[in-house]
Amino acid sequence: MTSEIRFLMCAPNHYDVDYVINPWMEGNIHKSSRDRAVEQWEKLYHIIKERAIVDLVQPQVGVPDMVFTANAGLVLGENVVLSRFYHKERQGEEPFFKQWFESQGYHVFELPKDLPFEGAGDALFDREGRWLWAGYGFRSELDSHPLIAKWLDVEVLSLRLMDERFYHLDTCFCPLTDGYLLYYPPAFDAYSNRLIELRVPPSRRIAIAEEDAVNFACNAVNIDRTVIMNQASAGLKQRLQAIGFEVIETPLTEFLKAGGAAKCLTLRVTEPVRAEVHANAAIETRIIQMEGHLLDAGLINRALDLIVDMGGSFQVLNFNLGVQRQSTSSAEIKVSAPSHDAMEEIMSQLIDLGAVPRPQEICDINWETVEMAGVAPDDFYVTTIYPTEVRVNCEWVKVHNQRMDAAIVVSNTPDGVTARCKLLRDLQVGDRVIVGVEGIRTVRKAESREQRNAQEFGFMGAGVSSERRVELVVEQIAWELRQIRDQGGKVVVVAGPVVIHTGGGEHLSKLIREGYVQALLGGNAIAVHDMEQAMLGTSLGVDMKRGVSVRGGHRHHLKVINTIRRHGSIANAVEAGVLTSGVFYECVKNNVPFSLAGSIRDDGPLPDTQMNLVKAQEDYARLIQGADLILMLSSMLHSIGVGNMTPAGVRLVCVDINPAVVTKLSDRGSVESVGVVTDVGLFLSLLVRQLDKLTSPYRLAQPVG
Ligand code: ARG
Repeated sequence: MTSEIRFLMCAPNHYDVDYVINPWMEGNIHKSSRDRAVEQWEKLYHIIKERAIVDLVQPQVGVPDMVFTANAGLVLGENVVLSRFYHKERQGEEPFFKQWFESQGYHVFELPKDLPFEGAGDALFDREGRWLWAGYGFRSELDSHPLIAKWLDVEVLSLRLMDERFYHLDTCFCPLTDGYLLYYPPAFDAYSNRLIELRVPPSRRIAIAEEDAVNFACNAVNIDRTVIMNQASAGLKQRLQAIGFEVIETPLTEFLKAGGAAKCLTLRVTEPVRAEVHANAAIETRIIQMEGHLLDAGLINRALDLIVDMGGSFQVLNFNLGVQRQSTSSAEIKVSAPSHDAMEEIMSQLIDLGAVPRPQEICDINWETVEMAGVAPDDFYVTTIYPTEVRVNCEWVKVHNQRMDAAIVVSNTPDGVTARCKLLRDLQVGDRVIVGVEGIRTVRKAESREQRNAQEFGFMGAGVSSERRVELVVEQIAWELRQIRDQGGKVVVVAGPVVIHTGGGEHLSKLIREGYVQALLGGNAIAVHDMEQAMLGTSLGVDMKRGVSVRGGHRHHLKVINTIRRHGSIANAVEAGVLTSGVFYECVKNNVPFSLAGSIRDDGPLPDTQMNLVKAQEDYARLIQGADLILMLSSMLHSIGVGNMTPAGVRLVCVDINPAVVTKLSDRGSVESVGVVTDVGLFLSLLVRQLDKLTSPYRLAQPVG
């Protein structure tokens, strides 16, 4: 014994692998040898005993993992935070450890029930006593960290564990004398790695490879300049020796079968207390409220998963379950995050799910002024498709021009404060842009079970829809189109050239002629191929009647472009009697506005094609204003463009033969989108046939016979 350093150990008299609570235990039930375990443990015991004082706690029957005294609690000075085990299999150890600590005169702090924390297995002091590293993610809860900080009066740095093989912090992280750190970076999330890098300079960081990590090289006992571990590669030993550490290897393979090694088998009960160090935890907490069909619509699961996935933690403060099918539920949730930045990220996502920060807490949003035209302040709030409201003078103000991917600008007008969405490129110097996430909420319509079922019925992203299912969706869409037309509503069609290639041109023409379409959006190609078909009978050189390529047909579309260019516009060509049928002919004849957005691959382009994309976006945005339904027909690019501009509440129908496109477009997290995986020509022909079949609501109302 060379120092006043003390450790607590527990002999393996009753050690065995009896259950599986970590991946190492899997396949190892009753596979460890007691004799070998005793022998390995004693070797470790003697190595430590030569260098420190070792106290022993009495092993107990029925709690085989009690050998892992690292999990007894966390000791600093006279104080102990007793462990609260996550798994019931180990909870039986708690009273025995408590008894031992009390018998030694420690002051024992106990965490609330349901707030797990697994002691020094998940909390490691910097060896200089400057702060405490605390792990969470598998066994210990983030919310335990502020209590530990308070009780032990230390700064706690929370690290999130990501790899279930390294479920305790001490399996992948080992602070060493003189501020060195032995650790396995892939076991942590990006935030945690950044935090580690901020506190430990590169020259002190010893990042190990997986090969050493799985041999529990980080699960080492450090006494001054000695490091005791199960096994280390030659390379790691060299690195440690080079910075003045002596490495002692002692096999602990029997304990590896339970997911532990040297460090787990010990608990350091003398830690340096530094008077100048005080309680501090970067953890932030906020309370949010949610309302709606929280269970039925899966909102609560999504919110809670999101919090955890993003490195936070939660406590459901209360949950009022709506008891009837139509009644909504409400919940109040305490959200914790390891840092301010993490909290802001979590909150912005929760806002998108309709969560509201406790309103009485915030009276005004935060804003910053635009200093460079077209550039927002760094921390600007990015909008979604959902109706949004912001807090001004303790009241909720509605945001205008709602669309996704914009900034919110607030301004003073004679009528008070207004807020509206503005694209980055439209920001002007002096505009006040909302930053952060405080005082912002999105208003989600409560999705009912019926609506969701309807969506699932329509949504077929998973594969090509069966014919019958396509027919059912078509029936539904036809009915909606008829209703919108009869009520003077607005339908916008976004279409790609595939509509023409698959023979859908005549059907789309008919829809336009019969007043079902109020605006048409596309690119250069759909117009070119539509007119090629109208003027020359081919589409991309393929004879549309016979389905075969026409000799020299590949030049047809250029001839058409040339003709239209000669007339100056599509409308002029119609007027001149050059263009006498087809989709664009119908648009001109029926005063249906259209916008063609150009692209790099356009031939020509047609005089009508807008090659200035900012202008094209503006045109599109103008034409979709007030739309009730948008029908997206086989044009991924233009459809996504339209989706970006469209606020929630507009019904979207997306038809494409490629399920991936349908999934991408219809997955707006809302009930309004329907996807149909099918050939678009076939879809249009079914739609037209269905519309023809539909009797007017007028006729339906009359008694039969
Ligand atoms: N079987 C034990 C468990 O899964 C092993 C504990 C190892 N201890 C440690 N501090 N890493 O809880």
